[in-house]
Amino acid sequence: MLEEVVATRYVTPLREGGSLPGIVEADDLGTYVMKFTGAGQGRKTLVAEVICGQLGRRIGLRVPDLVQMQLDPVIGLAEPDQEVQELLKGSGGLNLGMDFLPGSLGFDALAYQVDPREAGRVVWFDALINNVDRSWRNPNMLIWHGDLWLIDHGATMIWHHNWPGAQASAAKPYNASDHALAPFAPDIAAAAAELAPLVTEELLTEVAADVPDEWLVDEPGFDSTDQLRRAYVEALLPRAATIHERISLDAPTAAKPSQAPGWLAERLAPRRDHENSDESSRP
Ligand SMILES: Nc1ncnc2c1ncn2[C@@H]1O[C@H](COP(=O)(O)OP(=O)(O)OP(=O)(O)O)[C@@H](O)[C@H]1O
Ligand SMILES: [Mg+2]
Repeated sequence: MLEEVVATRYVTPLREGGSLPGIVEADDLGTYVMKFTGAGQGRKTLVAEVICGQLGRRIGLRVPDLVQMQLDPVIGLAEPDQEVQELLKGSGGLNLGMDFLPGSLGFDALAYQVDPREAGRVVWFDALINNVDRSWRNPNMLIWHGDLWLIDHGATMIWHHNWPGAQASAAKPYNASDHALAPFAPDIAAAAAELAPLVTEELLTEVAADVPDEWLVDEPGFDSTDQLRRAYVEALLPRAATIHERISLDAPTAAKPSQAPGWLAERLAPRRDHENSDESSRP
Protein backbone atom coordinates (compact mmCIF):
# COMPACT_ATOMS: atom_id res chain seq x y z
CA MET A 1 0.00 0.00 0.00
CA LEU A 2 1.15 3.52 -0.68
CA GLU A 3 1.87 5.75 2.28
CA GLU A 4 -1.08 7.99 3.10
CA VAL A 5 -0.78 11.72 3.88
CA VAL A 6 -3.29 14.53 4.38
CA ALA A 7 -3.18 17.64 2.18
CA THR A 8 -2.76 20.77 4.29
CA ARG A 9 -2.25 23.60 1.78
CA TYR A 10 -2.96 24.08 -1.89
CA VAL A 11 0.01 26.09 -3.17
CA THR A 12 -0.41 26.60 -6.91
CA PRO A 13 -1.71 24.94 -10.07
CA LEU A 14 0.75 23.46 -12.61
CA ARG A 15 -0.66 24.90 -15.79
CA GLU A 16 1.60 22.84 -18.12
CA GLY A 17 -0.37 19.73 -17.19
CA GLY A 18 -3.55 18.98 -19.13
CA SER A 19 -5.19 17.58 -16.00
CA LEU A 20 -4.33 20.71 -13.97
CA PRO A 21 -2.26 19.00 -11.27
CA GLY A 22 -1.42 21.20 -8.29
CA ILE A 23 1.47 21.67 -5.91
CA VAL A 24 0.16 20.74 -2.48
CA GLU A 25 1.75 20.55 0.96
CA ALA A 26 0.91 17.70 3.32
CA ASP A 27 0.90 16.84 7.02
CA ASP A 28 4.21 14.97 6.70
CA LEU A 29 5.79 18.37 5.77
CA GLY A 30 6.32 17.07 2.24
CA THR A 31 5.46 18.92 -0.95
CA TYR A 32 3.68 16.94 -3.65
CA VAL A 33 2.32 17.24 -7.15
CA MET A 34 -1.28 16.24 -6.64
CA LYS A 35 -3.31 14.51 -9.36
CA PHE A 36 -7.00 14.83 -8.71
CA THR A 37 -9.72 12.19 -8.92
CA GLY A 38 -12.08 14.94 -10.08
CA ALA A 39 -9.98 15.72 -13.19
CA GLY A 40 -11.66 15.03 -16.53
CA GLN A 41 -9.18 12.24 -17.35
CA GLY A 42 -10.87 9.99 -14.75
CA ARG A 43 -9.66 7.58 -12.12
CA LYS A 44 -8.04 5.14 -14.57
CA THR A 45 -5.35 7.76 -15.12
CA LEU A 46 -4.50 7.49 -11.43
CA VAL A 47 -4.56 3.68 -11.54
CA ALA A 48 -2.05 3.85 -14.40
CA GLU A 49 0.12 6.33 -12.46
CA VAL A 50 0.29 3.94 -9.52
CA ILE A 51 0.89 0.67 -11.39
CA CYS A 52 3.40 2.07 -13.86
CA GLY A 53 5.10 4.48 -11.46
CA GLN A 54 5.61 1.75 -8.86
CA LEU A 55 6.70 -0.77 -11.49
CA GLY A 56 9.21 1.68 -12.95
CA ARG A 57 10.73 2.39 -9.57
CA ARG A 58 10.86 -1.27 -8.58
CA ILE A 59 12.85 -2.16 -11.71
CA GLY A 60 15.33 0.61 -10.98
CA LEU A 61 14.14 3.59 -13.01
CA ARG A 62 13.95 7.00 -11.39
CA VAL A 63 10.31 7.82 -10.61
CA PRO A 64 9.45 10.24 -7.76
CA ASP A 65 7.76 8.60 -4.75
CA LEU A 66 3.99 8.24 -4.86
CA VAL A 67 1.58 8.66 -1.93
CA GLN A 68 -2.16 8.57 -1.38
CA MET A 69 -3.34 12.04 -0.41
CA GLN A 70 -6.50 12.77 1.51
CA LEU A 71 -8.05 16.04 0.40
CA ASP A 72 -10.61 18.13 2.21
CA PRO A 73 -11.71 20.62 -0.46
CA VAL A 74 -11.96 23.28 2.24
CA ILE A 75 -8.20 23.89 1.81
CA GLY A 76 -8.98 25.48 -1.55
CA LEU A 77 -11.54 28.00 -0.30
CA ALA A 78 -9.17 30.93 -0.72
CA GLU A 79 -8.17 29.83 -4.22
CA PRO A 80 -9.28 32.60 -6.63
CA ASP A 81 -9.31 30.50 -9.82
CA GLN A 82 -12.75 29.01 -10.41
CA GLU A 83 -11.40 26.08 -12.43
CA VAL A 84 -9.18 25.08 -9.49
CA GLN A 85 -12.07 25.57 -7.04
CA GLU A 86 -14.25 23.20 -9.09
CA LEU A 87 -11.46 20.63 -9.35
CA LEU A 88 -10.88 20.62 -5.59
CA LYS A 89 -14.62 20.45 -4.85
CA GLY A 90 -14.93 17.43 -7.12
CA SER A 91 -11.91 15.66 -5.58
CA GLY A 92 -12.73 15.32 -1.88
CA GLY A 93 -11.23 12.13 -0.41
CA LEU A 94 -8.41 10.09 -1.86
CA ASN A 95 -6.12 11.52 -4.56
CA LEU A 96 -2.62 10.77 -5.81
CA GLY A 97 0.51 12.64 -4.77
CA MET A 98 3.93 12.51 -6.42
CA ASP A 99 6.95 13.82 -4.55
CA PHE A 100 7.66 17.32 -5.92
CA LEU A 101 11.20 17.68 -7.28
CA PRO A 102 12.16 21.27 -6.44
CA GLY A 103 14.31 23.04 -9.00
CA SER A 104 13.87 20.30 -11.62
CA LEU A 105 13.89 21.24 -15.29
CA GLY A 106 11.82 19.79 -18.09
CA PHE A 107 13.87 17.42 -20.28
CA ASP A 108 15.31 19.13 -23.34
CA ALA A 109 16.91 16.88 -25.98
CA LEU A 110 19.20 19.71 -27.07
CA ALA A 111 20.52 20.43 -23.59
CA TYR A 112 20.80 16.98 -22.01
CA GLN A 113 22.63 13.93 -23.34
CA VAL A 114 21.23 10.47 -22.55
CA ASP A 115 23.46 7.42 -23.02
CA PRO A 116 22.11 4.53 -25.15
CA ARG A 117 21.82 2.19 -22.16
CA GLU A 118 19.63 4.57 -20.19
CA ALA A 119 17.64 5.57 -23.29
CA GLY A 120 17.08 1.85 -23.95
CA ARG A 121 15.78 1.23 -20.42
CA VAL A 122 13.26 4.09 -20.68
CA VAL A 123 12.07 3.14 -24.19
CA TRP A 124 11.73 -0.54 -23.20
CA PHE A 125 9.75 0.42 -20.08
CA ASP A 126 7.48 2.72 -22.10
CA ALA A 127 6.92 -0.08 -24.61
CA LEU A 128 5.98 -2.45 -21.79
CA ILE A 129 3.38 -0.08 -20.36
CA ASN A 130 2.43 1.23 -23.83
CA ASN A 131 3.14 4.83 -22.86
CA VAL A 132 1.97 7.18 -25.60
CA ASP A 133 2.97 10.27 -23.66
CA ARG A 134 6.77 10.52 -23.77
CA SER A 135 7.23 12.02 -27.21
CA TRP A 136 9.46 14.93 -28.23
CA ARG A 137 6.29 17.03 -28.14
CA ASN A 138 5.64 16.20 -24.50
CA PRO A 139 8.63 14.37 -22.96
CA ASN A 140 7.23 13.98 -19.40
CA MET A 141 10.77 13.67 -18.02
CA LEU A 142 12.54 15.97 -15.61
CA ILE A 143 16.21 16.65 -14.98
CA TRP A 144 16.91 16.84 -11.27
CA HIS A 145 20.36 16.92 -9.65
CA GLY A 146 21.79 15.99 -13.04
CA ASP A 147 19.68 12.83 -13.42
CA LEU A 148 16.74 11.91 -15.61
CA TRP A 149 13.43 11.34 -13.77
CA LEU A 150 10.24 9.89 -15.25
CA ILE A 151 6.86 11.45 -14.50
CA ASP A 152 3.30 11.25 -15.79
CA HIS A 153 2.30 7.65 -16.46
CA GLY A 154 -1.40 8.42 -16.81
CA ALA A 155 -1.63 7.75 -20.56
CA THR A 156 -0.46 4.13 -20.51
CA MET A 157 -1.95 0.62 -20.67
CA ILE A 158 -4.55 1.54 -23.27
CA TRP A 159 -6.03 -1.93 -22.79
CA HIS A 160 -7.55 -0.96 -19.45
CA HIS A 161 -10.09 1.14 -21.33
CA ASN A 162 -11.51 -1.97 -23.03
CA TRP A 163 -11.00 -5.08 -20.93
CA PRO A 164 -12.72 -7.56 -23.29
CA GLY A 165 -10.04 -6.79 -25.90
CA ALA A 166 -7.19 -6.42 -23.43
CA GLN A 167 -5.14 -9.51 -24.27
CA ALA A 168 -5.19 -8.70 -27.99
CA SER A 169 -4.37 -5.06 -27.33
CA ALA A 170 -1.48 -5.90 -24.99
CA ALA A 171 -0.02 -8.20 -27.65
CA LYS A 172 0.35 -5.32 -30.10
CA PRO A 173 3.67 -3.71 -31.07
CA TYR A 174 4.98 -0.36 -29.82
CA ASN A 175 6.08 2.35 -32.17
CA ALA A 176 8.85 4.37 -30.51
CA SER A 177 9.74 6.51 -33.51
CA ASP A 178 8.31 9.64 -31.85
CA HIS A 179 9.75 8.85 -28.42
CA ALA A 180 11.69 11.72 -26.84
CA LEU A 181 14.70 9.40 -26.42
CA ALA A 182 14.58 7.87 -29.92
CA PRO A 183 17.43 10.16 -31.11
CA PHE A 184 19.80 8.75 -28.44
CA ALA A 185 20.30 5.30 -30.04
CA PRO A 186 18.38 3.39 -27.32
CA ASP A 187 19.88 -0.05 -26.68
CA ILE A 188 16.62 -2.01 -26.48
CA ALA A 189 18.24 -5.47 -26.47
CA ALA A 190 20.40 -4.65 -23.45
CA ALA A 191 17.43 -3.13 -21.64
CA ALA A 192 15.24 -6.18 -22.31
CA ALA A 193 17.96 -8.54 -21.08
CA GLU A 194 18.38 -6.51 -17.90
CA LEU A 195 14.80 -5.54 -17.08
CA ALA A 196 12.43 -8.21 -18.44
CA PRO A 197 13.56 -10.83 -15.87
CA LEU A 198 12.72 -8.36 -13.10
CA VAL A 199 9.08 -8.03 -14.19
CA THR A 200 7.81 -11.14 -12.43
CA GLU A 201 4.30 -12.17 -11.54
CA GLU A 202 5.12 -11.44 -7.88
CA LEU A 203 6.32 -7.93 -8.62
CA LEU A 204 3.31 -7.12 -10.82
CA THR A 205 0.97 -8.47 -8.14
CA GLU A 206 2.64 -6.22 -5.58
CA VAL A 207 2.40 -3.06 -7.66
CA ALA A 208 -1.25 -3.81 -8.52
CA ALA A 209 -1.90 -4.17 -4.79
CA ASP A 210 -0.68 -0.59 -4.32
CA VAL A 211 -3.75 0.77 -6.15
CA PRO A 212 -6.40 1.90 -3.66
CA ASP A 213 -9.58 -0.22 -3.84
CA GLU A 214 -11.83 2.76 -4.41
CA TRP A 215 -10.22 3.47 -7.80
CA LEU A 216 -10.93 -0.09 -8.91
CA VAL A 217 -14.46 -0.81 -7.66
CA ASP A 218 -17.41 -1.36 -10.00
CA GLU A 219 -15.39 -2.02 -13.15
CA PRO A 220 -17.85 -3.68 -15.58
CA GLY A 221 -17.07 -7.37 -16.13
CA PHE A 222 -15.23 -7.85 -12.81
CA ASP A 223 -16.63 -9.34 -9.60
CA SER A 224 -13.96 -7.96 -7.31
CA THR A 225 -11.12 -5.47 -7.20
CA ASP A 226 -8.67 -8.35 -6.83
CA GLN A 227 -9.95 -9.89 -10.06
CA LEU A 228 -9.33 -6.55 -11.77
CA ARG A 229 -5.84 -6.32 -10.26
CA ARG A 230 -5.18 -9.79 -11.68
CA ALA A 231 -6.16 -8.53 -15.15
CA TYR A 232 -3.42 -5.88 -14.99
CA VAL A 233 -0.89 -8.57 -14.07
CA GLU A 234 -2.04 -10.82 -16.92
CA ALA A 235 -1.74 -8.06 -19.49
CA LEU A 236 1.74 -6.95 -18.43
CA LEU A 237 3.41 -10.28 -17.66
CA PRO A 238 3.50 -11.78 -21.19
CA ARG A 239 4.21 -8.37 -22.67
CA ALA A 240 7.39 -8.05 -20.57
CA ALA A 241 8.81 -11.24 -22.05
CA THR A 242 8.44 -10.34 -25.71
CA ILE A 243 7.79 -6.64 -26.25
CA HIS A 244 11.43 -5.92 -27.23
CA GLU A 245 10.79 -7.90 -30.44
CA ARG A 246 7.93 -5.58 -31.36
CA ILE A 247 9.40 -2.12 -30.72
CA SER A 248 9.81 -0.14 -33.91
CA LEU A 249 12.32 2.65 -33.96
CA ASP A 250 12.36 3.15 -37.69
CA ALA A 251 14.81 5.57 -39.20
CA PRO A 252 12.83 7.94 -41.37
CA THR A 253 12.63 7.09 -45.07
CA ALA A 254 11.38 9.05 -48.07
CA ALA A 255 8.18 7.02 -47.99
CA LYS A 256 7.79 7.47 -44.25
CA PRO A 257 9.41 10.76 -43.23
CA SER A 258 10.06 11.62 -39.59
CA GLN A 259 7.33 13.55 -37.89
CA ALA A 260 9.87 15.24 -35.65
CA PRO A 261 10.71 18.81 -36.58
CA GLY A 262 13.84 19.19 -38.71
CA TRP A 263 15.61 21.37 -36.16
CA LEU A 264 15.55 18.53 -33.63
CA ALA A 265 17.07 15.86 -35.85
CA GLU A 266 19.54 18.29 -37.44
CA ARG A 267 20.76 19.89 -34.26
CA LEU A 268 21.12 16.62 -32.37
CA ALA A 269 23.44 14.96 -34.85
CA PRO A 270 26.19 17.64 -35.03
CA ARG A 271 25.94 18.25 -31.31
CA ARG A 272 26.67 14.61 -30.48
CA ASP A 273 29.62 14.44 -32.91
CA HIS A 274 31.03 17.59 -31.48
CA GLU A 275 30.69 16.33 -27.90
CA ASN A 276 32.39 13.04 -28.65
CA SER A 277 35.38 14.57 -30.39
CA ASP A 278 35.72 17.38 -27.88
CA GLU A 279 35.72 15.26 -24.72
CA SER A 280 39.42 15.75 -23.85
CA SER A 281 39.44 19.52 -24.34
CA ARG A 282 36.77 20.15 -21.73
CA PRO A 283 37.76 22.14 -18.65
N1 LIG B 1 7.26 15.42 -9.36
C1 LIG B 1 7.36 16.59 -9.98
N2 LIG B 1 8.27 17.52 -9.60
C2 LIG B 1 8.37 18.72 -10.23
N3 LIG B 1 7.56 19.10 -11.25
C3 LIG B 1 6.63 18.24 -11.67
C4 LIG B 1 6.48 16.94 -11.08
N4 LIG B 1 5.46 16.30 -11.69
C5 LIG B 1 5.00 17.14 -12.64
N5 LIG B 1 5.69 18.30 -12.64
C6 LIG B 1 5.48 19.45 -13.52
O1 LIG B 1 4.09 19.55 -13.79
C7 LIG B 1 3.85 19.36 -15.19
C8 LIG B 1 2.56 18.59 -15.36
O2 LIG B 1 2.68 17.32 -14.77
P1 LIG B 1 2.15 16.04 -15.52
O3 LIG B 1 2.78 15.93 -16.86
O4 LIG B 1 2.32 14.88 -14.62
O5 LIG B 1 0.61 16.41 -15.65
P2 LIG B 1 -0.52 15.95 -16.68
O6 LIG B 1 -1.73 16.73 -16.39
O7 LIG B 1 -0.64 14.47 -16.63
O8 LIG B 1 0.13 16.39 -18.04
P3 LIG B 1 -0.13 16.08 -19.57
O9 LIG B 1 -0.61 17.38 -20.10
O10 LIG B 1 1.24 15.71 -20.04
O11 LIG B 1 -1.11 14.94 -19.63
C9 LIG B 1 5.08 18.66 -15.72
O12 LIG B 1 5.29 18.92 -17.07
C10 LIG B 1 6.19 19.26 -14.87
O13 LIG B 1 6.57 20.52 -15.34
MG1 LIG C 1 2.62 15.66 -18.68
